[in-house]
Amino acid sequence: MKRVAVIGSQWGDEGKGKVVDFLADDKDIVARYSGGPNAGHTIVINDKQFILHLIPSGIFREGTVCVMGNGMAVDPESLLAEIEGLKKEGVYVGDNLLISESAHVIMPYNKLLDSLNEKIKGQKQIGTTRKGIGPTYADKASRVGLRMGDLLREDVLREKLEFILKIKNLLIREFFGEEGFDFDELFEKALLWGERLKPYITNTTSYMKKAVKEGKSVLYEGAQGTMLDIDHGTYPYVTSSNPTIGGIMTGLGVPPSAVDDVVAVVKAYTTRVGGGAFPTEDRGEFGEMLREKGGEYGATTGRPRRCGWLDLVVLKYASWLNGFSKIAITKLDVLDGFEKIKVCVAYEIDGERTDEFPLHYTQLLKAKPVYVELPGWKKPVKGIRKREELPKEALEYVNYIAENMEAEILLVSTGANRDHTVMFC
Ligand code: IMP
Repeated sequence: MKRVAVIGSQWGDEGKGKVVDFLADDKDIVARYSGGPNAGHTIVINDKQFILHLIPSGIFREGTVCVMGNGMAVDPESLLAEIEGLKKEGVYVGDNLLISESAHVIMPYNKLLDSLNEKIKGQKQIGTTRKGIGPTYADKASRVGLRMGDLLREDVLREKLEFILKIKNLLIREFFGEEGFDFDELFEKALLWGERLKPYITNTTSYMKKAVKEGKSVLYEGAQGTMLDIDHGTYPYVTSSNPTIGGIMTGLGVPPSAVDDVVAVVKAYTTRVGGGAFPTEDRGEFGEMLREKGGEYGATTGRPRRCGWLDLVVLKYASWLNGFSKIAITKLDVLDGFEKIKVCVAYEIDGERTDEFPLHYTQLLKAKPVYVELPGWKKPVKGIRKREELPKEALEYVNYIAENMEAEILLVSTGANRDHTVMFC
């Protein structure tokens, strides 16, 4: 697995941080290609927990270069805080971090507009992380966004900011009736960000080209998950980027041939945070139990996650979209102690059974899960490191997932720590 992509197969929060950290071991480069500080990748090293929002999870590995690709939306303030936080813990951040000069800048007005947009949506709000993601990608698509490279060019920055701030202030003041932003203050701030981040900002497209041509090993680190993809997810209840496989090519400037293996990260059950349909959600006791046992609270916002059984309709759809070759199953230990485990194998929509994922959210809202029941396991899997120690029923469960996703199991995670991992191949 020289150049491997690690992609969330559900609604994010599948435990990608741990899988990436684990697989980053022998990689020259760990590269992020989409999203921004809406992500929260939790990594536990020697019982110490780190949460990364922007910096790729390879930062803890000596000799690994971390690339933040052009497809990302970067909040300079939160990035600087993250860098400082890591340095304080003794983690080296220097020439091992490269930020694309074409990555988009999350500006303070984008964060404010994210919150204001949500507010006016009322009941229909998406439940965003309020990190400014949507408005930043909207600016990118409208071709008025600021890129990281603009922070290093005073004249360009001034001209672009003057133009965009007029529009943003009009919207914020006249439509929303809120206080706008002062140009001089914002301009100074942005220049300072540029100054501080200058050592890291570079042409990462060219860096990746050289690295791939030289045969370097790469781990492409996905953020969010397939079902949050702006094109293929549960629109409009999605994020504003492409966490799916295509995002790697557009978000880093590499050809498809630069990806050898695609690993799906699959949580052993399903969670979702924010609004939108979730067919296997359990709003009762079982969902509550999963939340508590699995510590299902957002790493970025602290919000309680919605929980439910595994959904194979989602996973088979994700498998097709991404071309998964391998699967990493996480949090299997959370299912310890259940007598029976339910798995959704199809939906019933308007009385008709289907295993095709419906694209329109009104259809998905009507989808009733059709379940099969598999036997649970009596002996806990928590902390198990060897395949032969996994109870037969737990093996049956993970094999069932793999068969349906038509991919091979790479590993099963049985706890938060690095070494609570069972390797399969
Ligand atoms: P945004 O990306 O902040 O605009 O949020 C859009 C939707 O994606 C909301 O439902 C968020 O809860 C969800 N979301 C964004 N990032 C993550 C993530 O890293 N994990 C899980 N859900 C996320």
